[in-house]
Amino acid sequence: MKILVINGPNLNQLGQRDNEIYGSVSLDEINAKLADRAKALGIGIEAFQSNSEGDIVDAVQSKKADGIIINPGALTHYGLSLRDALADLKAPIIEVHLSNIHAREEWRQKSVIAPIALGQIAGLGYRSYLVALETLADILKEGS
Ligand code: DQA
Repeated sequence: MKILVINGPNLNQLGQRDNEIYGSVSLDEINAKLADRAKALGIGIEAFQSNSEGDIVDAVQSKKADGIIINPGALTHYGLSLRDALADLKAPIIEVHLSNIHAREEWRQKSVIAPIALGQIAGLGYRSYLVALETLADILKEGS
């Protein structure tokens, strides 16, 4: 069983970027926490980050996974080709955000990804990813 964790534009800058909103943990540190938790859960995990929507669409189309955790960054709000690529998958998708997008600027409160995701976890900092991983692992194990 394998879960693909995708991070979109600017998330490679975590740790240096707007710490008050996104926290001080870097993307490498988040990926290390996820790898530890995945090992404890007995599942495989692969992390992918890109600043380019096309590269993320390519990854969604080519990488094989039983489930996807995605923080689309700003593509959350307008990334329609990413949404279409994700909608073509049969695998369950959980959308995550470090910040609570619903408590921020109006344009951030809309997600074009949410309607095709199983659910969305937002506002828990790096823990949003860990909650998503635990939940997705549980769902996948239940179905297998
Ligand atoms: C984000 C929220 C987005 O609005 C923003 O563009 C990001 C990060 C989050 O994790 O809180 O890049 O997805």
